[in-house]
Amino acid sequence: MTNHASHKPIKKAVFPVAGLGTRFLPATKAIPKEMLPVIDRPLIQYAVDEAREAGIEQLIFVTGRGKTAIVEHFDMAFELETTMKDREKALDVLEPTRIQPGNLVTVRQQVPLGLGHAIWCARAIVGDEPFAIFLPDELMIANKGSTGCMKQMVEAYNEVGGNLISVLEVPEEEVSSYGVIAPGASQGALTEVKGLVEKPRREDAPSNLIISGRYILQPEVMRVLENQGKGAGGEVQLTDAMAQMIGHQPFHAVTFAGRRYDCGSKTGFVEATLAIALEREDMADEVRAMARRLLGEG
Ligand code: UTP
Repeated sequence: MTNHASHKPIKKAVFPVAGLGTRFLPATKAIPKEMLPVIDRPLIQYAVDEAREAGIEQLIFVTGRGKTAIVEHFDMAFELETTMKDREKALDVLEPTRIQPGNLVTVRQQVPLGLGHAIWCARAIVGDEPFAIFLPDELMIANKGSTGCMKQMVEAYNEVGGNLISVLEVPEEEVSSYGVIAPGASQGALTEVKGLVEKPRREDAPSNLIISGRYILQPEVMRVLENQGKGAGGEVQLTDAMAQMIGHQPFHAVTFAGRRYDCGSKTGFVEATLAIALEREDMADEVRAMARRLLGEG
């Protein structure tokens, strides 16, 4: 595997949150998908917590119309805090929503032309630095005692540099819904990426390893996106731009030691909610008993 790539630290992350969230309508008519809560934290909060754990300082949200609640969520709620203080309520529950002034930047994607286009909209803020990308509807949960997905990726990046994507194995019949990698040599959790294809037909898929919502990319991807036309589904695909960089820069996949829930789908969202509830000490016993009752087991 190549070892002479950019190792500039990853301090910036782009959160594309300009999608329409049509699979969750009517819930997402006036509320962004990223604000739907899994238990008591909106999806975007899980992604931001994961970013901060990985040492990321600047959060770049690519937003669109109707997405202001996301920015409000990370603002200081002065009246709320004053009232809570007056009532002697602890404020630590709001701690994860505090961002250092100046460390949250938003740019608009005026028309949702696809993920690749959303990332390109952040080019001026990203500048000439490698950066992370989080798709907040993919919830990545660390195993007990282990670190989050992006922290694992940053550790891998510190060794190999270049570009990294997180991947996971899915049943073959599901590959045509995702970006799929053509894998090369593997070493532990790291696999060389030889090719990438967005939403291939099952028979054309180079593997059953899919890209799972976390990326570390070199800034050159912005120049590729600049000149790129539409791909699968009539959208500007990030996968197509990344595929152009293979062979010019190191490109690796990291298999996350943890769990991933696809909260962009309804069943994935329910699964995430149940799984996290069953892990939380304040809820687990009650939820387990409830699930047994619902399944007719007691
Ligand atoms: P999805 O494919 O899940 O689309 O986007 P969506 O609009 O969010 O949801 P559905 O399919 O209509 O229910 C994957 C990620 O890319 C962002 C989304 O916000 C999500 O984080 N995205 C997608 C953009 O920011 N802009 C786009 O033009 C498309």
